[in-house]
Amino acid sequence: MSAALLELRDLRRSVRLPSGDDLHILRGVDLRVESGDHVAIVGRSGSGKTTLLNLLGLIDRQSSGDLLFDGTDVSQLGERRRARMRGASIGFVFQQFNLLDGRTALENVMMPLMYGTAAQFWRRERLAREMLDRVGLADRAEQLPSRLSGGEQQRVAVARALVRRPRLILADEPTGALDVTTGEAVMALLDEIARDSAAALVTITHDLQVAALSRRSFLLDAGTLHDVGATGAGEALAATGGIRAGRRAVGTRDAGPGPSADEPTAAPQQAGTEARR
Ligand SMILES: Nc1ncnc2c1ncn2[C@@H]1O[C@H](COP(=O)(O)OP(=O)(O)OP(=O)(O)O)[C@@H](O)[C@H]1O
Ligand SMILES: [Mg+2]
Repeated sequence: MSAALLELRDLRRSVRLPSGDDLHILRGVDLRVESGDHVAIVGRSGSGKTTLLNLLGLIDRQSSGDLLFDGTDVSQLGERRRARMRGASIGFVFQQFNLLDGRTALENVMMPLMYGTAAQFWRRERLAREMLDRVGLADRAEQLPSRLSGGEQQRVAVARALVRRPRLILADEPTGALDVTTGEAVMALLDEIARDSAAALVTITHDLQVAALSRRSFLLDAGTLHDVGATGAGEALAATGGIRAGRRAVGTRDAGPGPSADEPTAAPQQAGTEARR
């Protein structure tokens, strides 16, 4: 059997609380994700979804267990190699878009290419314009994010996440700050672009319509992942009391440990430690 794009074996993550106690957030997660897969992960608030995504995105390290990316055990790699891998192979989409304000849509999308290969660097404007065109915003390239609607900002963020053609796309509540129709449109776009490029897409969501778009759904509960099939996310989530009435309003922050608004994009920023060669 060839190596999966992503393979998790008995992945655990615990953190030490100020009281001195350990909080066991992930208690043995197993998962295989192949190229072209679209996986949704649901779970109630505080169940560890963002914690898991930060491990998949090589932002945090597991406490124990294996995380293989393309057959490589990434826990063995140093920070520089992890950052390089993250920049080259992983694209992130966040609930709050995390665009740099004061920079145009085009500049935001060009940003990851500053840390890309030499060819990506020299062609950065053209590549960024092509991606903006792909998400339907070619005519808004020179606009500042603050002048764009929420849905448009998330499309810029999608363009930025995908401009380096990552093999894995990680989306943490990508529709959480959008209205239903806009959220569906953004999700359909993300799904379509991921499929075109045979990238794997892992989406964390409270939104059952979003989960329904994926091929497989998992419930994260009590620190482990449970396969709930293509359509079982609703029932499974309801059983844990995790369905939210309505969506979070724009401006409410995710309480999780994920990158904050001041840390616009984990991928491009962290990749910044890697000098362009
Ligand atoms: N570094 C940390 N130190 C202490 N507690 C942490 C840390 N990281 C996560 N936690 C706790 O672990 C639990 C899981 O957090 P996480 O952000 O992964 O949940 P989530 O499923 O993403 O929730 P939400 O749906 O609200 O975003 C929470 O109770 C959180 O407070
Ligand atoms: Mg979260």
